[in-house]
Amino acid sequence: MLKLSKMDVVGPYLPQTLQPGERGEAFAPSNIALCKYWGKRDTGLNLPINASLSVSLAHLGSKTTITPATGAEDQVCLNGDLLAADSRFATKVVDFVDLFRGDLNQPLRIETHNNIPTAAGLASSASGFAALMLALDDFYQLKLEPPVLSAFARMGSGSASRSVFEGFVEWQMGHRDDGMDSHAFQLSARWPGLRIGLVKVATGEKKVDSRAGMQRTVESAHLYQSWPLQAAADLEKLHQAILAQDFALLGETAEQNALSMHATMIASWPPLLYWQPDSVAAMHKVWQLRAEGLALYFTMDAGPNLKLLFEAEDQAAIEQQFPDLEVVNPFPAG
Ligand code: PMV
Repeated sequence: MLKLSKMDVVGPYLPQTLQPGERGEAFAPSNIALCKYWGKRDTGLNLPINASLSVSLAHLGSKTTITPATGAEDQVCLNGDLLAADSRFATKVVDFVDLFRGDLNQPLRIETHNNIPTAAGLASSASGFAALMLALDDFYQLKLEPPVLSAFARMGSGSASRSVFEGFVEWQMGHRDDGMDSHAFQLSARWPGLRIGLVKVATGEKKVDSRAGMQRTVESAHLYQSWPLQAAADLEKLHQAILAQDFALLGETAEQNALSMHATMIASWPPLLYWQPDSVAAMHKVWQLRAEGLALYFTMDAGPNLKLLFEAEDQAAIEQQFPDLEVVNPFPAG
């Protein structure tokens, strides 16, 4: 397969002469995958081995503002703090911005604010790169179409392709070498009664990030062979569940999908187990409550925290069982 660089892919979409504005600004929501993205067929462009489906978290996410910098250097700020130029976050942001600023070399000030409660243990790279892409589009007046914005956000972080949209979002894997058909799109269906509860088990930087975790799984777990089949079957079931508003099918599919993904990680070498004892305790609690008749399911990403799935009518009962639960309504009215 022909390996293209990110710059090769972006170049044809940029105008001959860039017209930077005074200010670019955008918000993008965080998202939780019900059918996960796990494994890349191209590690440079973040092209996935399977399609995935998520739900965006409405008002929880990242807001990014881009303005010309006052000095000669780029300035990257996170939640009000100016970061060291060689920090991981600042380097990633500047590398991404470099794809779009052409020969201008105009130093920029890039400010990101995450309103995701840090205590919820939610990753912010999806909303962060989606907001950065949308803010760049605004700043340089690129007027790129949503599928292109999604494909470009994907090159910052795979799951960012889905954060360009609200509600239910599917990321089709695509087949092209340049990845421009590997972008997300919004599903028209809504589910106003759906709720997501964030259970904090632990926060703080994880030892193995999702990029390294995926790579290790793809390279060392024979069990990974079965993952694309699992994901394809689950995607189909999620479509059915969303169409029929069948919550049990949605919950069962999302929970089995997450556990299947974690099974491939555990079967890697060295083994990759993101769960803490409290994660397992919370899983048992969910299963016990379900056995008692509550329609409650969970999903988990590359970390120890659980995301609960339930319907609005059960919110009070579930908050009683999980007192510190942060509840999100992904389909607010209006
Ligand atoms: O976008 P990344 O590289 O942070 O990977 C996200 C991986 C998972 O969160 C585990 C699954 C997903 O689809 O969001």
